Amino acid sequence: MAGTDNAKVKELVLKCMHAREMAYCPYSRFPVGAAILTADGAIITGCNVENASFGLTVCAERTAIQRAVAEGHIKFSAIAVTCDIKDSFVGPCGACRQVLIEFGTDWVVYLTKPDGSYKETSLKELLPLAFSPAHLGH
Ligand code: THU
Repeated sequence: MAGTDNAKVKELVLKCMHAREMAYCPYSRFPVGAAILTADGAIITGCNVENASFGLTVCAERTAIQRAVAEGHIKFSAIAVTCDIKDSFVGPCGACRQVLIEFGTDWVVYLTKPDGSYKETSLKELLPLAFSPAHLGH
């Protein structure tokens, strides 16, 4: 992405893969990892955290966003997301796309395979015609 050097993208990708190893997913056995690059260069990770009451499960992307905000970050440049699917690039679920777009339309999304290869996309592309804070005057 513009402004993010290759080494930083590689670090982001490696960290989302490491975060996937932390997933708590005894029910789905579908681990997901996410790593967010903040505007000031910090990397905050998240994994999915499931619950016996299935609807309380939190996705990796939302775990990462909530950690980031709790640590004082609300400006983001990129997010890398990975799961165990080897043969295609998998995007965040719809709910997570909405949560991510709360913090801007311009950040980059790296859809990452388990081998570390990635496809670059954007929130704009993943959630066109989104409802956003701008519609509430923010
Ligand atoms: N999951 C995520 O963590 N992120 C997504 O974008 C899609 C789904 C998790 C939720 C659940 O723990 C498991 O993957 C299977 O749906």
